[in-house]
Amino acid sequence: MSSVQFTLNGITVEALQDETILQVAQRYGIEIPRLCHKEGLRPEGNCRACVVEINGERALASSCSRKPTRGMVVESSSERAQQAQRMVLELLASDVAEAAYRPNSELDHWSRKMELGTPRFPPRQQPPVDNSHPAIAVNLDACIQCSRCLRACREEQVNDVIATPIVVPLQRLFSILMMPWDRVVVSPAASAFKPVPPGR
Ligand code: SF4
Ligand code: FES
Repeated sequence: MSSVQFTLNGITVEALQDETILQVAQRYGIEIPRLCHKEGLRPEGNCRACVVEINGERALASSCSRKPTRGMVVESSSERAQQAQRMVLELLASDVAEAAYRPNSELDHWSRKMELGTPRFPPRQQPPVDNSHPAIAVNLDACIQCSRCLRACREEQVNDVIATPIVVPLQRLFSILMMPWDRVVVSPAASAFKPVPPGR
C-alpha cells in the first residue's frame, strides 16, 4: 500500500506505508497518550489511552492499532477523545500503588500532560507479592496489565522467559498476570528479559 492522505486534528497529513494513526501523529508532533504501545512490539490496543475520534464512526478507535484510510477525518484532541483518554489514565492511576517506584513512569508522564490530579476512584485491592517461583519474585502493584512484558518475551525475544503454559485468549490476560508464578513458565535465560513497564 502506498502513502495515504487523511486529516488529523484539522491538518492534512500523510501516512507512510503501514503506519498507524499514532505513528503519523508522532511524526507530525501531535501528542497522543499511549501506554500499552511500544515501538517494535505488535500493537495490542488494550489500554485505550490513545483513543481518537474518527468521523462517521460511533466508537472511539485505538490510534496505536488503527491504520488510516484515504480521506479519513481523525480528532485526537476533541472533547470526546480527550475525555476518554483522561478517564483511562485516571482509572489506571487508581489501579496502581500510590507510592511510585520511579519518578517519571509513563503513566505519571501522561497523567501530568493531561493535567490529572489524584484519581477520584477508590484504589484497587493490590495482589499480594508472589514469591512462589524460585527464580523470580513478582509484585504486581504497579502493573496496569498492558501485556508488553508478555509480548516482548513471546514475540520479540522469542524466549518465553515469561509465558503461560497454554495459549489463552487476550481477554484472560488479567487472570494470567494474577496467576501464581509457580504455574508460569520461566526460562533459565531470565537475564535476556528486559521488561518495559509503563506503570509506576
Ligand atoms: S508487568 Fe509491566 S509490562 Fe507487564 S503487563 Fe504489567 S505493566 Fe505491563
Ligand atoms: S496505547 Fe493504544 S490502546 Fe494502549
